[in-house]
Amino acid sequence: MKKTVFSGMRPTGKLHLGHLLGALEKWVELQKDHNCIYGIVDWHALMSEYEQSKDISENILDMAIDWMACGIDPKKSIIFIQSHVPEHLELYMFLSCLVPLGWLERVPTYKEQLREITTRDLHTYAFLGYPALQAADILLYKANAVPIGEDQLPHLELTREIARRFNHLYKTNLFPDCQAMLTQTPRLLGVDGRKMSKSYQNAINLSDSEKTVREKIQSMFTDPLRIKITDLGHPDQCNVYNYYKVFAPEMAKDVYDWCSNAKKGCTECKKILAECVLKKIGPIQEKRNELTKNKKKIIDILEDGANRARKIAQKTMAEVKEAVF
Ligand code: TRP
Ligand code: SF4
Repeated sequence: MKKTVFSGMRPTGKLHLGHLLGALEKWVELQKDHNCIYGIVDWHALMSEYEQSKDISENILDMAIDWMACGIDPKKSIIFIQSHVPEHLELYMFLSCLVPLGWLERVPTYKEQLREITTRDLHTYAFLGYPALQAADILLYKANAVPIGEDQLPHLELTREIARRFNHLYKTNLFPDCQAMLTQTPRLLGVDGRKMSKSYQNAINLSDSEKTVREKIQSMFTDPLRIKITDLGHPDQCNVYNYYKVFAPEMAKDVYDWCSNAKKGCTECKKILAECVLKKIGPIQEKRNELTKNKKKIIDILEDGANRARKIAQKTMAEVKEAVF
């Protein structure tokens, strides 16, 4: 029996290279020998972006296109929009009844976001329940494994505790234990050397044109000690070198040599890097352009995904009601 994998992403903006190398490559690989269910979690997006709700709908189609361009295959996996499967909210309600407030208040990401996010007011009733909805996403499909980044580990731990509490309270073994599958994030920084993030506008997006990719790479900060072309460089302190290690590891040795011995200048070094990055994302962009031409088809795929997800979800909800009532 193939294991079930569930994961989700919030449609809050364009996908960038960090998403590709962090999550999506893993998601694609998992399709080979797992039943994968991937949700565009728009309720989760609304919990923080409720004031800019129109942007969410625009981002949803873009996200589906990015996923498919990267190799998420709707023939192998279920791709769907969370809000098209109302059972997510139904299970969320059942779970909300039994999750102690303290469990939610203790989640480190909750406190951190309240502290750090200043552009939106997250002191809402729903936002506290964010991880409970995430638990509902996972448990609704009885997922065995959840590919996530390290920052999401507390949410998964909470999911397991909620599942155990449900099983214990209602004397059932309805919900299996789920395992986190850490998606490695190679530390790819933004073009300005800070964490790659859409809010810093320092990311290379999967939807950027070739010209934009070249310009963004040409704008990258380099070794601050290398001012003149004749200065010897320190590749280990240069973000450009780091990109080489990820996008063209076979060239890293040469780059190290031409940099530390001042055989090539930074402009040329970045020009060559741009070609390496484009070689990697070129096929994705081609596929992206192709998919963008037929939005109707994307909508149909998401509808079909929601129907398939719903079948599983309805079965679980029947069992949940049986256990509770
Ligand atoms: N909270 C996740 C994030 O921000 C997104 C998410 C929602 C998710 N539901 C999920 C991830 C279920 C894995 C499983 O990245
Ligand atoms: Fe960075 Fe390349 Fe310049 Fe060296 S030559 S400092 S690796 S951009």
